[in-house]
Amino acid sequence: MFGKKDSLLGLDIGSHSIKLVQLNTTSTPPRLMNIGLSQMAGEAFVEGRVNRSELVGRSIQQLANHLKIKEKAAASSISGYEVMIKKIDMPSMTEEELGTRMQGELGQYIPYNIDEVDVDYQILDLSKDRPNFMEVLLVAAKKESVSEYASIVRGGGLEPVVVDVDFFALSNAFEAAYGINNEDSIALLDIGASKAIMNIVLRGVPIFTRGISIGGAQITERIRDQFDLSHEEAERVKLGESSLKLSPAELEDIFVSTVRKWLAEFKRAVDFYYSNFPDHRIAKVYLSGGSCRIAGLDQAFRDHMNLDVEIFNPLKQVEYDDKVFDPDYIDYVGPQTAIAFGLALRKAN
Ligand SMILES: Nc1ncnc2c1ncn2[C@@H]1O[C@H](COP(=O)(O)OP(=O)(O)OP(=O)(O)O)[C@@H](O)[C@H]1O
Ligand SMILES: [Mg+2]
Repeated sequence: MFGKKDSLLGLDIGSHSIKLVQLNTTSTPPRLMNIGLSQMAGEAFVEGRVNRSELVGRSIQQLANHLKIKEKAAASSISGYEVMIKKIDMPSMTEEELGTRMQGELGQYIPYNIDEVDVDYQILDLSKDRPNFMEVLLVAAKKESVSEYASIVRGGGLEPVVVDVDFFALSNAFEAAYGINNEDSIALLDIGASKAIMNIVLRGVPIFTRGISIGGAQITERIRDQFDLSHEEAERVKLGESSLKLSPAELEDIFVSTVRKWLAEFKRAVDFYYSNFPDHRIAKVYLSGGSCRIAGLDQAFRDHMNLDVEIFNPLKQVEYDDKVFDPDYIDYVGPQTAIAFGLALRKAN
């Protein structure tokens, strides 16, 4: 039943907004129990990084109170920017053998003092053409980053039971909501305010991850500077919520030229992927994150990349009580809550 100890709150702490998702994962598809989002306090983040953790904590607390959330156990994620993800070739061996070998050889693969990092690894089933080899995905996060993050969550009155990595939360969300594509790889791209994360998934396995420094704040800042507005007013202008009369042509130009840069960055990341995985064609791109709502963004990606592009809404398949949650609201927030949704799927270990 809901409230079972193993159901965790999915908490995505973004530089622009906090997202909280609570699911009952004992039913298939999962059932939505609670969802909400609130704007991050100004100054809490500077240039995409936590600046004042007490403000972040307060914002978490306010959102949890507003949603009347009683559970404390949460899964949140550090950014892929703060972890090292590396794919290494190994001779074929069992998971147990790999464990032993890793203990001895870890220092070889990780550019940090191994006492200072938490390491996780997963065998990838990709080298079918080379039967004596296997590929291993190594993930190393500095213990300091993880514990700083955990203390922010505690500052919000919640218990950080799981600290995941945003890349993996995104691909878990996708797999749970849309299933596994068994032939080609797919590219997931979550565009937030200060960053975008790209995760290319092949047969359910994240094989290529990359942070891309693009995001919606770039547009807000250009509007702010060009029209000499406050950040808040510029954000309202961007969302079409301001009553100011500004030149539509100038605004259009800000959107178009910024998005053009995003496309160039994305293409560069995709080219880099292809230089590593020439045999695994990308079948489709799925966009999520608040900035994927920019009108016409999916079409711009489609035209520029010559690829099939779709907005990823993880809430498309979940069950929920439509007397509690307005279906229009669920459709609207879904893509922005992709990472929080992936986190809410996590179980307490
Ligand atoms: N309708 C819209 N049109 C354009 N931009 C939008 C719209 N709705 C939200 N955004 C933008 O989406 C961004 C917020 O998205 P999101 O919540 O995914 O970011 P975040 O997770 O807080 O940021 P980050 O992950 O980069 O720290 C903001 O820049 C916001 O202006
Ligand atoms: Mg985000």
